Amino acid sequence: MTRKPFIAGNWKMYKNGQQAQDFIRQFIPLVNSWEAHQVGLAVSATVLKEAVSTVATVGSFPLIIGAQNMHWEIEGAFTGEISGSMIKGTGATMVILGHSERRQLFGETDEWVARKLAAALDYGLTPIVCVGETLQDRESGRTFNVLANQLTGCLAGVSDHSLGSIVLAYEPVWAIGTGVTATVEQAQEAHAFIRGRLSRQFSPQAAEAVRILYGGSVKPDNAKSLLDQSDIDGALIGGASLDPVSLAKIVNLA
Ligand code: PGA
Repeated sequence: MTRKPFIAGNWKMYKNGQQAQDFIRQFIPLVNSWEAHQVGLAVSATVLKEAVSTVATVGSFPLIIGAQNMHWEIEGAFTGEISGSMIKGTGATMVILGHSERRQLFGETDEWVARKLAAALDYGLTPIVCVGETLQDRESGRTFNVLANQLTGCLAGVSDHSLGSIVLAYEPVWAIGTGVTATVEQAQEAHAFIRGRLSRQFSPQAAEAVRILYGGSVKPDNAKSLLDQSDIDGALIGGASLDPVSLAKIVNLA
């Protein structure tokens, strides 16, 4: 089974419209090949449309633009939220769901992620569903329990068929933005666990086909060894995705 590597940047609450434009114009020519892997950028909601049109202005490059969160309802009295249909309306085609910052700082639960996931699939957005344990979970030997519960909760209601449209990201919370990366052994072990778990929750074929990205302090100098692992199919990159040169380096390694 060959799974096409997927490298996605997560800009978090960084970059306004002009900065997004400048980044995209610089970044696209630095990528050696657009066939070997998929590349995405999750930008802030206010620059989605601008990012999409900048990509189109540069040329016909399949750089995927996405959001970092969404609400499951199509519209309503939900101050500050955006819906899948609004994201779709900007021309963006991807959305990150259940990022640990959403979970830890904004109280997002697995049940919410499951609802958002169903809505994202309805709109034809490619969801990147994040799971991962905290340092406390890991130190108390609960990593696999936590991952199993997150997978059960977030993917409740997902069919074998729709699993194929979902990308997962394993992001140990203790490795996000800390400069501490999981060792390749820790990362591969968690990815293999996730795939094994999916093969029981879904069919072995569907589990084999799903891409599982690693996230947490991925940088140009540690990306290769992580991406070489058999169950690591790409990366979700925060800090290093803010610089076009460093993101392109990682893409070109994948
Ligand atoms: P980081 O962030 O690469 O800065 O650790 C990863 C993420 O939050 O997705």
